[in-house]
Amino acid sequence: MAATCDNNTVLQITKCFRTIRYAPNCPHFAALAKFCHNSLQSAVYDVANRDEGRISGKRRTLPLAFCPPFAYAPLDAFGASRSLPPETAGFTKDMALIQTPYYLIDKSKLLQNMEKIAELRQLSGAKALLALKCFATWSVFDFMRDYMDGTTSSSLNEVRLGREKFGKETHAYSVAYADHEIDEVVSHADKIIFNTVGQLTRFADQSAGITRGVRLNPGVSSSSFDLADPARPFSRLGEWDVKQVEPVMDLITGFMIHNNCENGDFDLFDRMLGDIEQKFGSLLKRAEWVSLGGGIHFTGENYPLAKFAERLKRFSGEYGVQVYLEPGEASITKSTTLEVTVLDTLYNGKNLAIVDSSIEAHMLDLLIYRENAKIAPNAGPNRYMICGKSCLAGDIFGEFDFPSELKVGDRISVQDAAGYTMVKKNWFNGVKMPAIAIRELDGSIRTVREFSYTDYEQSLS
Ligand SMILES: Cc1ncc(COP(=O)(O)O)c(C=O)c1O
Repeated sequence: MAATCDNNTVLQITKCFRTIRYAPNCPHFAALAKFCHNSLQSAVYDVANRDEGRISGKRRTLPLAFCPPFAYAPLDAFGASRSLPPETAGFTKDMALIQTPYYLIDKSKLLQNMEKIAELRQLSGAKALLALKCFATWSVFDFMRDYMDGTTSSSLNEVRLGREKFGKETHAYSVAYADHEIDEVVSHADKIIFNTVGQLTRFADQSAGITRGVRLNPGVSSSSFDLADPARPFSRLGEWDVKQVEPVMDLITGFMIHNNCENGDFDLFDRMLGDIEQKFGSLLKRAEWVSLGGGIHFTGENYPLAKFAERLKRFSGEYGVQVYLEPGEASITKSTTLEVTVLDTLYNGKNLAIVDSSIEAHMLDLLIYRENAKIAPNAGPNRYMICGKSCLAGDIFGEFDFPSELKVGDRISVQDAAGYTMVKKNWFNGVKMPAIAIRELDGSIRTVREFSYTDYEQSLS
């Protein structure tokens, strides 16, 4: 299949979890186009007309039989696969063909988290909303949508993205909304959760048409970092005092409580939920729904999912509430790597290797929380400090072991690079922004986004 699309029509077919775009010079295009007009069942496609970069089209249906997985067409019509040589037709199974740096989202790994989330929903009756603050790479939302109930947000931009790119149930929350934002926030949201009683009463009129809630702060959390501890002394994150909330109960129907942070310990979750019941039981009894926030690592290995589901179900039954969870990290954990290349090596008392990425620009949380990256495999007799290419002296991924000496051009996979990474990437030093690639369930990889000098230039003025 040729790699260019020389007229304006593209067929886009969504089959199972995969979107396949057929360009006019794809051998299947003519047959597909004919069948599209017969409006048969099973798969959905768009006939899209590209008009100076804008895509518009009508939805039709197409039989699954006409979505052969081998009939991949290039994505060049959408400008999406420029990093791959033309002979790959927009897809490759060879990671080495893609220019680094790039984030690689592996759908088969993402699927493992999604299946656990789906199981938990089914066992507990709880709903699961993706926390966009953690992960907002919308190219995989089509895939995640079948396993989750919607999204939750921390700003106007996030709530809009959730509504437009994920759909389903869309929750709005923000530490504080501005007067000029609130109408638009409400227009995108099914539910709005105010951080304080002050914000609720300020925006009572504008938000009257949708479900409303308030964030409660139980004063206990599982965070080991003061910086990320929502229950730290003098925390601004939610209301602490039952007496402040009681007078506004007629304005709201539920609560959000986020006090778990990277918590893989079910017993600790259980104990803290007990604390919440003790402190806020009188309010919870009057609620219709309660979101227990994110930070619970229930998709991790060996997490007692059935016990967790039972506890959520019991909580839901005792208070008569619909329980929500807002998994960010748990949704995408271990699904993504940051692929980098060694640009230089030197010896400075230690073996150092400089790569074409930067923790400050591409994995900022490592710097904020002073953590090491994870690199796999991390075994062998050759120890190296892996360093970023920004000017920051401490731009260091960590020290790792390799089976052989590193040399210029070697590729390294930095593990677990989805959560709080892509949403925080920045243009510090003008370092090349990693592309975003997706490995499909059949192993083929496509690049869904590349960033250019124009993106860098346009990020400032
Ligand atoms: C209100 C709220 N919900 C959900 C999350 C997602 O947490 P995590 O990514 O740890 O699951 C956070 C994280 O800070 C949060 O503040």
